[in-house]
Amino acid sequence: MEKEIEKIKENIKNFHPKNLDDLETLKIFFLGKKKGIITNFMKNLKKIPLKERKFFGKIINELKKEIENKIKIFSSKHQYFNKNKKKEILFDPTLPGKAIEIGSIHPISIIKNRIIEIFIKIGFTYVDGPEIEDDWHNFTALNMPIDHPSRDMQDTFFIYKNPDILLRTHTSSVQIRYMKKHKPPFRVLSIGKVYRNETVSSHSNFMFHQAEVFYIDKKVSFSDLKQSIIYMINSLFGKKAKIRFRPSYFPFTEPSAEVDIYNVKNGEWLEIIGCGMIDPNVLNNVDIDSEIYSGFAFGIGIERLALMIYNIKDIRIYFNNDVRFLEQFKSEF
Ligand code: PHE
Repeated sequence: MEKEIEKIKENIKNFHPKNLDDLETLKIFFLGKKKGIITNFMKNLKKIPLKERKFFGKIINELKKEIENKIKIFSSKHQYFNKNKKKEILFDPTLPGKAIEIGSIHPISIIKNRIIEIFIKIGFTYVDGPEIEDDWHNFTALNMPIDHPSRDMQDTFFIYKNPDILLRTHTSSVQIRYMKKHKPPFRVLSIGKVYRNETVSSHSNFMFHQAEVFYIDKKVSFSDLKQSIIYMINSLFGKKAKIRFRPSYFPFTEPSAEVDIYNVKNGEWLEIIGCGMIDPNVLNNVDIDSEIYSGFAFGIGIERLALMIYNIKDIRIYFNNDVRFLEQFKSEF
């Protein structure tokens, strides 16, 4: 009897399951209902004389508890280990970090931001205006009454059900909106999309971006206009940029001019600005006394400016979402 107990003790000492299968085998070996050595011992306990039975019963019960304890400890350790193993797989601090793709700013937005920066520096205020306009702000108040032939210069998207509503054909409508609400003097800049049929870089487009710059005060003169344009061109292209002013016509400015910039790369002049002194009729339309105040305004085509700055050949590339093109502006970020 003692010998058998010694053997059990020895076996328990060597109880080192390696995995769950091992544990199961050892469980059966000790506690299996049919052949488990502890179970067998219990069964045989009956054969032991009553006097000794209590003593051996106690010992074997203790051994049983010991083995049950070991089983418990092993299986909870095993569970813990497995859980943590999963966690480790989910978070491995040694792996290289996931690269975060940094986008780039669209060239049109880059130029837009630059222009804003340039004019904020000399005291201009930036404002936004609506792309959906009415006839009065887009045309009539700008000295283009209904049936005026100059409206034809700007192919317009009208709303079929309400011809008074249209997509603005230029940002000059912002002049009207601002002048109606504010008293001069003011210096204002607005940039946004305009909608009309316009040929830029040999391809026509129905939408492009325009910047509108206007300044109203007492005694504003054409030389202020010229100087502001030269200041902007120099800020964007450096002092060497070559520009020329050409007399032109806009119903809302008098006198009017267009500004071309010389492209050294192809030896051609590119028209980028329409400008002029704000027509007194326009000032009167927004209740500004044209006897006291005068002002200038100019409109800049942003796509064309960007063509020059980045040496882009075809305007269509701005809007077809080609990552190979857009990625090249990452460094500007
Ligand atoms: N609005 C004109 C255009 O779209 C440009 C312009 C703006 C001309 C301001 C004169 C003054 O072509």
